[in-house]
Amino acid sequence: MTKLPKIELHLHLEGAAPPAFIRTLADEKGITLDGVFGPDGSYEYNDFEDFLKVYEAATTVLQTPEDFGRLTQAVLEQSAAHGVIYTEAFLSPDFCGGRDLGAWREYLAAIREGAARVPEVEFRGIVTCIRHFGPDKARETAACAVDTAGDLITGFGMGGNEGLYTQGDFAWSFAAAREAGLGLTTHAGEFGGPQSVRDALDDLHVSRIGHGVRAQEDPALIRRLAEEGIVLEVCPGSNVVLGVYANIDAHPIDKLKSAGVPVTVSTDDPPFFGTDMTAEYDALTKAFGWGDAEFRSVYRTAAEAAFCDATTRARLLSYLE
Ligand code: ADE
Ligand code: ZN
Repeated sequence: MTKLPKIELHLHLEGAAPPAFIRTLADEKGITLDGVFGPDGSYEYNDFEDFLKVYEAATTVLQTPEDFGRLTQAVLEQSAAHGVIYTEAFLSPDFCGGRDLGAWREYLAAIREGAARVPEVEFRGIVTCIRHFGPDKARETAACAVDTAGDLITGFGMGGNEGLYTQGDFAWSFAAAREAGLGLTTHAGEFGGPQSVRDALDDLHVSRIGHGVRAQEDPALIRRLAEEGIVLEVCPGSNVVLGVYANIDAHPIDKLKSAGVPVTVSTDDPPFFGTDMTAEYDALTKAFGWGDAEFRSVYRTAAEAAFCDATTRARLLSYLE
């Protein structure tokens, strides 16, 4: 196990909500959540589409800016407990006032306050559109991102169901975000095959890909990712629980890394997948023998790919000395 701190680049804020936190909010508001929790109190779902439904049902208790401030604090306290010193979280205006600009600013102010209560973790937000909500809503999300781009909001991204629409349908939103100086990432190559990763590069011009692991099926694409330095935000535990791979031994992260693809390690939606950053690192050690050299390498890749300012990047890189 490495003594290095950790950097996490792929974490959905609502998806990181501890189940107990969601239950507390539900109780406070008198909301009954049906079909969200299993008998042991953890999130319960059958497959990826059901996961997205349960995820969205759980977010219905997150209603006010204050709720999001409390959520941010709870999530970053978990990150800190696993040695994370820098986190980028996907923030969805869809769940924060429905993409209304004025409301979004209020939610973001509360998220900033929540993050400030956990000074151990440096925090940045990636405003994220949700693919299955469609390109029109994504434009409104992009407007929120452009309006609030700055020291906290440093990226724009897309999550959601890869089975609906194409990456190119969202080109306008990504172009607007790029124009505003935001870093770009999109989920691709998780449930979509190699072509979805190529589309993300050609149509959205992202520098990072959420997951991207199915690029492993296409040698020419692997070479392209390595040559162009496209960074994959790999979430092995998520991929195994959602059935992209049968088990960690079958996961391609080690092969991709050996082929020169820049890979990083994240948890995606940790309580949904029964994981955390410590468990992810332990699994990589057990499955592939990763040790200090590999964890230093993913740390450096993450620090170099982070959507942050030069001073923060230099500080993150200084931990390698
Ligand atoms: N939103 C939250 N988690 C996600 C995932 N793993 N894939 C796509 N969208 C998501
Ligand atoms: Zn994700």
